[in-house]
Amino acid sequence: MSAATAQLPLLLRAVRASVPSITQRCLATSHCVRYSSTLEKPPKGNEPQKPTRQPPTPPPQETENLKTNTASGSFLGTTKRLPEFSLTDKVVLVSGAARGLGLTQAEALLEAGATVYALDRLAEPSPDFYRVQKRAAEELGTTFYYRQIDVRDNEGLNKVIAEIGDTHGQMDGLIAAAGIQQETTALEYTAKDANMMFEINITGVFMTAQAVAKQMIKFGNGGSIVMIASMSAHIANRVSFS
Ligand SMILES: NC(=O)c1ccc[n+]([C@@H]2O[C@H](COP(=O)([O-])OP(=O)(O)OC[C@H]3O[C@@H](n4cnc5c(N)ncnc54)[C@H](O)[C@@H]3O)[C@@H](O)[C@H]2O)c1
Repeated sequence: MSAATAQLPLLLRAVRASVPSITQRCLATSHCVRYSSTLEKPPKGNEPQKPTRQPPTPPPQETENLKTNTASGSFLGTTKRLPEFSLTDKVVLVSGAARGLGLTQAEALLEAGATVYALDRLAEPSPDFYRVQKRAAEELGTTFYYRQIDVRDNEGLNKVIAEIGDTHGQMDGLIAAAGIQQETTALEYTAKDANMMFEINITGVFMTAQAVAKQMIKFGNGGSIVMIASMSAHIANRVSFS
C-alpha cells in the first residue's frame, strides 16, 4: 500500500467531520429540509418484496460435487443453500468486475440468484469473466451482463446505470469495487498519479454510488450499497519495491 493511499483514512475522516456542517447548512434552505428530516427520522425500512419466482434449484451435480469435493459445492441462495439469502429477482451492479475482487463478488451474487451487471473500463473483460457468465447461464439460472464504462465519465456512468434501471424497472444493489493501486514510494508519487488515484478510488466510487442511489430512489424499493475498503486504511502495509 503506497503512502498516498494511506492518506485516505485522513481524507475520509475529514469528509466525515464536514458532514454535520453540510447538514446544518441544508437545514437553512427549504429544498434540503426533506433530506434533513429523513436523517432525523430514518426510514424504518421497506417491507420485504415478494419474489416473483422461487430461489433457483441447485444444479443436479451439486450432491456429487459435495461428495467428491472436486468442484464447487457452494450454491448460496438456492433452495438448498441458505434460501433466506436469496437474491432472486434482484438487480445488482458491480463496478470493476471485469476481473479480480469485483468479479469474485459478482460470482457470489450470481450464486445467490441475482441478475448482475459488471461495469468496468476494460474494452474486453478477462477470460475469467466469460467462465462466470457461462456458469451463471448454465448452472445458476441467472444472467451476468457486461457494460464498458469508466467511473470517471460521470455522464456516461449515469446513462448506463439509468438504462439498466429502466430495462428492469428496479435497482437493488451496488458493490463499488472499481479501483486502482499504484505501488510507488510516497517520495516518487507525482501530483498526476495522486489525482488519478483520487479520481477513481474516491470520486469514481462516490459518483457510482450516487448514480445507483438515484435509481433506487426513483424505484422506491430501497437497496444496498457496498464499498470496498482495505485493511490498509487502519494499518500500514509494508511493501518492498524493487
Ligand atoms: N485484491 C486485494 O487483496 C484488495 C484488498 C483490499 C482492497 N483492494 C482494493 O479493491 C480494488 C479492486 O482490487 P483488485 O485486486 O480486484 O484489482 P484489479 O486491478 O484486479 O481489478 C480492478 C478492476 O477495476 C477496474 N477499473 C479500474 N479503474 C477503473 C475505472 N476508472 N473505471 C471502471 N473500472 C475501473 C479495472 O479495469 C479492473 O477490472 C482496488 O481499489 C484495490 O486497491 C484490493
